[in-house]
Amino acid sequence: MSNDLESLKSEMLAAVAAAGSTQALEAVRVGELGKKGRITGLMKELGGLDPQERKARGQALNALKDEVARALEARKADLAQDDLDARLAGEGVDITLPVRPEQTGCIHPISQTIDEAIAIFGEMGFTVAEGPDIEEDWYNFTALNIPPDHPARQEHDTFYLPDTGDGQRKVLRTHTSPVQIRTMQQTKPPIRIIVPGRTYRCDYDATHSPMFHQVEGLLVDQTTHMGHLKGCLIDFCRAFFDVDDLPVRFRPSYFPFTEPSAEVDIGCTREGGQFRIGHGDDWMEILGCGMVNPKVLENCGIDSSVYQGFAFGVGIERLAMLKFGIPDLRTFFESDLRWLRHYGFSPLQAPSMVGGLDR
Ligand code: PHE
Repeated sequence: MSNDLESLKSEMLAAVAAAGSTQALEAVRVGELGKKGRITGLMKELGGLDPQERKARGQALNALKDEVARALEARKADLAQDDLDARLAGEGVDITLPVRPEQTGCIHPISQTIDEAIAIFGEMGFTVAEGPDIEEDWYNFTALNIPPDHPARQEHDTFYLPDTGDGQRKVLRTHTSPVQIRTMQQTKPPIRIIVPGRTYRCDYDATHSPMFHQVEGLLVDQTTHMGHLKGCLIDFCRAFFDVDDLPVRFRPSYFPFTEPSAEVDIGCTREGGQFRIGHGDDWMEILGCGMVNPKVLENCGIDSSVYQGFAFGVGIERLAMLKFGIPDLRTFFESDLRWLRHYGFSPLQAPSMVGGLDR
């Protein structure tokens, strides 16, 4: 390559390298390789040369053209990458921020209550178990010592599903207790579970909804006794309602699947028309419990001469209404945004025994 072309080449490559944007680079390309560009102009002059000179000069110009074209391509790719990087940096989103800070969602009091119960029982060593909402009659009733003609079946106001042809009608579970059976069939003792979940009964007024929630508890071991049941539930009530010396009373009761059975009341007062939990002259029933009936253990293949256990079932809506001062149970399921914002909880503060339940 002759000297003039060598210096032209370094000049052109320097211009390519200096182009700071796709537009500037395009201007360089047009100025060198375009129809009226410098290299194109030099090519046009070839016609005036003698054949010998023309050949050498033509080859040199072609080499120059190729090299400049390659440099242009490379620079173009670099600039495109820079453009992309800049765009990505500019459009960066902090996904941990709420999309619309003025409109954060909140946790429903039912979810909050379940999370608080899990935090408390979790601290005592219970793990969460689950079962189906659509349940077989055997799990919901028979295995729990509620045979077909038992009056408790009527009391449950059961929703039955259509007969599937084999004479078996499935039910919407009327309590979370069938998960006791499923767990005892699948797991060898020791067992220590809680079961938060939906339950269904055909009933509807200010204190009943056809769909509601319970938390079941089940503990099975060799030396489990009524004292453990009482201690566990007293601790739960005091932690949940955040009253250290909350009065808790166990009143004899009856459930086919526990023997003996009890209902648990907590102290409250209605003085001056104001309901308050704590010391007072009145009691409020909040849950059912008892020692697992040996027949139920045997129905699940657990030797009742070796193992015994306790169980309890507590209504979530009832707990939430008492703790958060919610007067009507039906409002839980109306999805009224004003209600949800008023009674809802921060999604960023998970309940825990160390961090606090619902601060
Ligand atoms: N399953 C009972 C109910 O729904 C509650 C309960 C559970 C009672 C476990 C005793 C033991 O009313």
